[in-house]
Amino acid sequence: MDYFESGYFKYKGNQLFCEDIPLIEIAEELGTPTYVYSKSFFIDRYNEFDKAFAGFDHQIFFACKSNFNLSVIKAFIDAGSGVDVNSEGELIRAMKAGASSRKLIMSGVGKTQSEIKLALENDLLMIKAESEEEILLINEIAGSLNTTARVAIRVNPDVDAKTHPYISTGLAKNKFGVDASTALRLFKMQKYLRNIKYTGIDMHIGSQITKVEPFVEAIEKLGELFLKVKSEGIALEHIDLGGGIGVAYNNEKTFSIEEYAKAVMPVLKKLNCKAFFEPGRYLTANGGILIAQVLYTKKNLDKNFIITDGAMNDLLRPSMYGAYHHVQPLTLTKNKNDITADVVGPVCESGDFLAKNVRITECRRGEYIAVLSTGAYGMVMSSNYNMRRRPAEVLVEGKNFKVVRRRETFEHLLKDEISLL
Ligand code: LLP
Repeated sequence: MDYFESGYFKYKGNQLFCEDIPLIEIAEELGTPTYVYSKSFFIDRYNEFDKAFAGFDHQIFFACKSNFNLSVIKAFIDAGSGVDVNSEGELIRAMKAGASSRKLIMSGVGKTQSEIKLALENDLLMIKAESEEEILLINEIAGSLNTTARVAIRVNPDVDAKTHPYISTGLAKNKFGVDASTALRLFKMQKYLRNIKYTGIDMHIGSQITKVEPFVEAIEKLGELFLKVKSEGIALEHIDLGGGIGVAYNNEKTFSIEEYAKAVMPVLKKLNCKAFFEPGRYLTANGGILIAQVLYTKKNLDKNFIITDGAMNDLLRPSMYGAYHHVQPLTLTKNKNDITADVVGPVCESGDFLAKNVRITECRRGEYIAVLSTGAYGMVMSSNYNMRRRPAEVLVEGKNFKVVRRRETFEHLLKDEISLL
């Protein structure tokens, strides 16, 4: 099998390391399944993104839906990032991690009244509105709070991002945003909206996009709208390109952040405004792995199974999107054969797999495996299905590691069920 390595996760001798920590040490000390993140990866990726737009007025807002551990959010804030939140809960997390209000933006196609209120009370840099009814509600709540809401309109540019249908968001048939002509009409309502100040146009056309063309097509459409809005006498301050930049999970070809910058910059330059970005996956996916222990191996007729203590409740992406995550051993052992197997968990569903039909070095009971590229949309999508406790999370920095979230306990899971009938 192929062993994947990077500057952050690599074998030294026969052991897989995260930065300077042998992962076996974490597995033995904390148990499994456990998510392990490389802080240097996060910081390097952020700086790379920031540098690609150097010289252009811009701000990156880490989309913390991809990984909302407080220490991970804090690492990005310390590096200079703002934070994009998609709910009250994420806003509470981002503020707890130390985000300043003027570096916070709120997304969401269905914000509740209390979410809008919380955003306004905390004076967020902007709220991205996705419908006329939401705009009217924001105006009303801002009025009752005696404040002015800074609002961007999320436009659905009707562009095919050519990604998995569940994570494609920029087509007219998707629930997100409003079409460009509706957006123009809503912008023109500015004079009647006494408690709203429009500050920008926003888009997010999907996630795990591996070609730059959809971004260019979309930003060109947004650019046209931006100029029309300007000609109506409404001066917008920024254009928000959202997130969506794809990463390599296997050997797929993606584009570099420099190529992305080169592709979108000509349009941005014409508009003479500030650019906002909301990357999630790009900043986190390949900075995290999930480690798990092999419980059993077996063969049903011709089919090999590696049964681990990591399951779909810990990492949903393979079951939900058929997503590929490379699985490899933590410890390399000589004289082992490769087999074709499914790597599965203990959950009571056939859809519970971490990898399907993959070539993998045969494993034995008790050995550990690493599921790669799980720093984004891993822990945040975990659940307690089968009354399983969510994994622990560890952040590695050079020679040190810290448990940044303890494994859940059964007491914790039961504590809100207060009465027995
Ligand atoms: N901004 C908005 C408004 C979003 O909805 C998203 C992601 C992002 C930014 C960040 O996108 P990214 O840079 O991470 O692609 N659970 C799926 C991904 C769902 C993405 C949802 N929105 C997965 O595991 O692939």
